Formats: sequence, structure tokens, C-alpha cells
Amino acid sequence: MPPADVIPEGGEAPPADVPGPLLTSGTSADVYALDDERVLRRYREGRDAAPEVALLRHVHAHGFPSPDVLDASGSDIVMTRLHGPTLLQALGAGEISLPDAAQVLADLHAGLHGVPAPESWKVAADHDWPSLSGGPVVVHLDLHPGNVILTESGPGVVDWANARTGTAELDVAITAVLIAEVVVDAGGDYSQAARVLLAAFLHASDVSPVPALEDAAGLRAVAPLLLPGERELVPQAAALVRAMVDVTAHP
Ligand SMILES: Nc1ncnc2c1ncn2[C@@H]1O[C@H](COP(=O)(O)OP(=O)(O)O)[C@@H](O)[C@H]1O
Ligand SMILES: [Mg+2]
Repeated sequence: MPPADVIPEGGEAPPADVPGPLLTSGTSADVYALDDERVLRRYREGRDAAPEVALLRHVHAHGFPSPDVLDASGSDIVMTRLHGPTLLQALGAGEISLPDAAQVLADLHAGLHGVPAPESWKVAADHDWPSLSGGPVVVHLDLHPGNVILTESGPGVVDWANARTGTAELDVAITAVLIAEVVVDAGGDYSQAARVLLAAFLHASDVSPVPALEDAAGLRAVAPLLLPGERELVPQAAALVRAMVDVTAHP
């Protein structure tokens, strides 16, 4: 039985007992402000949030900048509210330069990949992501500027929906491919800016995405919730990353 307060599918009016003002409606979840300190993130499709909650709690306990989970059940997560623009919004508003944004992303990757995988997660059998077989560290696998919030005390990472255990190379490769998809979308408004961001990210990252590029492209190609046309951009995006790594010094 679904809980009584689940939002009905199909664009019907939300029930009167919505938990608070809707902050944003993202690709898969609605995020409500409960008060100044807390948000509720709720999957629209009723997916179980338990796996990501476990990893989010784990990385938070290791000091990685991320919301503190206060309560969770079913597809709901109540967590601390991070105040500030997303990195994407800050880029759009000219509040941060592309090289600085790239450095923020690279630093977050480096910090996250210092967090060891929880013991029970080191070998993960995952039906959604068959090419992931677990790994030594926690990986976010969707670490793009829209999932970084710039707070007064520094950047924090939200949206742990894809979090797993894996390798740093895979996580860096996914971010690189995500940015490259914007670059190769030549008709897009942000193609040029994304190219600069990608070059700077590859330069700032201590980890080369190359060993994991094929896996990353494979995962992106099967990602649910891709917009029409996005899937077709993935091979081109991966090829671009490979070409750009060749001209970007790597240790
Ligand atoms: N803990 C939080 N504090 C403040 N804002 C948040 C928080 N979690 C998510 N958000 C906001 O909600 C947006 C959508 O949430 P996200 O978890 O990224 O869901 P989706 O999978 O739909 O992208 C984020 O881009 C961010 O702006
Ligand atoms: Mg998101």
C-alpha cells in the first residue's frame, strides 16, 4: 500500500497535504522546503531511497560535504537544507569562472574518493548498472554542476541517486562525459562554455578518466530519464573526452 500522501501520477493536482513549498522539481524527484533548515526529497515514481541514504550517511559521517540525513522512509529523505546557488546557477550568473568551477568539481571528486566503501558494499551486484561490480571507494556517478550547492561554508553535493561503490576513474569519467554531452550538442547554448569547463576539469583532475571511459559511456547510454536525442550524443561525448585527455597533461 502506498502511503496516503504520495503525489498522484499523471499531472493531477497535488494533494492538499504537501509537506511544504516546492523548492525544485528535478528530473526524478521533488524537493520541498520543510523549513529553513530541512528539505524533503521525494521520488515521484516511488523508488526506494534506502541504498542512497545508506551511502549518503556514510560519506557524511566521513566528513564529505553533503546533507545530513535526518529521517528517511520509502522514497522520502528528510535532510539538512544547503543554502546557496547550485554551481550551475553560479556559472550562469557569472558568479564563478569556468576554471574555478572545474576546480570545485575536481576537488569534490578527490574528497569523495578518499572515502572508503562501506565493507558490505565492496562487492555490489546491481541490476540497474550491470557494468558496476563494486569497488574500493564511494562514487557519486552524477557529479555535475547542477548537483553541487555553493554554501557559505563551501560546496556541498546533493542527489545521491546514482551513488554506488566503484573507482575514482569511473566517477571522473562520468562527470567528463556529462560535460562533454553538452559540448557535442553543438546547437546548444552552452557548448562553448562546456568545452572550456571540460578542458579545465580534465586538467584539474588527478585521476584520468581514460581507463573507465567505455564503462562510463555504457552507463550513460543506459541511464534512465535521458532527454530525446541525449543518448545519441554519448559516443561522440566519450570520443571528445578521449581526444581532450590526449592534449591535457596527466600525471
Ligand atoms: N539538501 C538540499 N538542500 C537544498 N537544496 C537541495 C537539497 N537537495 C536537493 N536540493 C535542490 O533540489 C534540486 C533537485 O534535487 P536532486 O537531488 O538533484 O534531484 P534530481 O534527481 O531530481 O535532480 C537540486 O538541484 C537542488 O537545487
Ligand atoms: Mg540533480
